[in-house]
Amino acid sequence: SMDWTRVGALTEELKEKEVLIRGRVHTTRPVSKNMAFVVVRERGFTVQCLVATHEAGVSRQMVKFVAALNRESIIDAIGMVSVPGNPIKGTTQQVEIHVRKLYCVNKAMPTLPINVEDAARSDAEIEAALQAGDKLPRVNQDTRLNFRVLDIRTPANQGIFRIQCQVGTIFRQFLLSEGFVEIHTPKLIAGSSEGGSAVFKLDYKGQPACLAQSPQLHKQMAICGDFGRVFEVGPVFRAEDSYTHRHLCEFTGLDVEMEIKKHYSEVMDIVDRLFVTMFDSLNEKCRKELEAVGKQYPFEPLKYKPKTLRLTFEEGVQMLKDAGVEVDPLGDLNTEAERKLGQLVLEKYDTEFYILHRYPLAVRPFYTMPCYDNALYSNSFDVFIRGEEIISGAQRVHVPEFLAERAQACGIDVNTISTYVDSFRYGVPPHGGFGVGLERVVMLFCALGNIRKTSLYPRDPQRIAP
Ligand code: 4AD
Repeated sequence: SMDWTRVGALTEELKEKEVLIRGRVHTTRPVSKNMAFVVVRERGFTVQCLVATHEAGVSRQMVKFVAALNRESIIDAIGMVSVPGNPIKGTTQQVEIHVRKLYCVNKAMPTLPINVEDAARSDAEIEAALQAGDKLPRVNQDTRLNFRVLDIRTPANQGIFRIQCQVGTIFRQFLLSEGFVEIHTPKLIAGSSEGGSAVFKLDYKGQPACLAQSPQLHKQMAICGDFGRVFEVGPVFRAEDSYTHRHLCEFTGLDVEMEIKKHYSEVMDIVDRLFVTMFDSLNEKCRKELEAVGKQYPFEPLKYKPKTLRLTFEEGVQMLKDAGVEVDPLGDLNTEAERKLGQLVLEKYDTEFYILHRYPLAVRPFYTMPCYDNALYSNSFDVFIRGEEIISGAQRVHVPEFLAERAQACGIDVNTISTYVDSFRYGVPPHGGFGVGLERVVMLFCALGNIRKTSLYPRDPQRIAP
């Protein structure tokens, strides 16, 4: 009738108390016929358990049984919490359990495709071992992804997906508190949603259809439907053949759309307050998780300001020019230029999070509102973390005739988006919004360098399993 204590909650305060824990066998280490250690892991936290015949009720047979347990088997252990004189190496918890009883709840197979202990090592640890003449196995990315259920047991991965959960939670909480309504738009659609990037085509009961490449058109139609402010968290499908560190074929889109009273800066204000709130909350509420991630993948905390820096595209181009980087002033910035500009912004403004707005119209989607004062530019923006894009957003064209004209000018057959354009004929306020890539936010906040690390089961041009 005892309650289970979480491994992560085992602290000195529980000294001399008897506890029951459930976890996985992380490692076993037989010492003698009378004594063995087993490190138990639960949700990224580890604790050392001592099984020794000098404890009442522990037999040699039990020591033998414990020493032979397969790694990753699920066990229950009952024992006394004790605080050893010397710090314990290699576990997250600084107490030890002197085991009285131990049961195997469910056994794992004897040899596993990934050893979680190996998967949790940092590059620095592996290098240090090499220097010392030892060799520690390195688990490569493909093996990790092939056996993801084992890989995600590492403390760093446990941290990453809890941080991801917090990003989604803050996104939702903040927007709800600002009067936004959560909506769910269809992912099976007739025409492509944006034009431009490639879509996954499919057969919809004999009709050609595709997977939505964004909720763009339907979230705008919800504004036509008078919700005023909406958001969505949902899957986004992109079929483009980009095998890079930051492109997935399916990612989680955090989308926002809202009425604009006067100026598209109202949308950027939401971005600003939403993300500053989010970063503050991550640093405060996910301290342990960030620490666990940093232990395996060291990174510097993100530099950001209480009020987010806004630069115009023209200012950005000028900064690049001053640094000797020539870019097309009416073209898009390539990845390299974005990265360079990120460095320049960091040097000049001491921030790694900023908004770049007033993009050239020619590089934005058809629904983007041109600037009123100069139609070569647009009421649009991208947002960057550490020199990489996490958001794109804009004010939208809300006049139906002009929208149809813009679609046509961008090579889109207006017949394929007629229900969208027609929605504007029934009356719609000026509006704008933005889209965020969830996996990119986590990747860049923690400087992880590969989006596959922040997607639980990543889909890229070469992977659709597990
Ligand atoms: O820049 P994107 O394509 O913009 C839109 O979808 C617009 N409808 C948004 C809007 O409201 N105007 O995508 C938005 C964000 C990007 O900034 C990026 O963070 C992420 O989605 N993203 C991807 N993430 C992972 N893999 C991909 N292939 C991504 N493509 C875009």
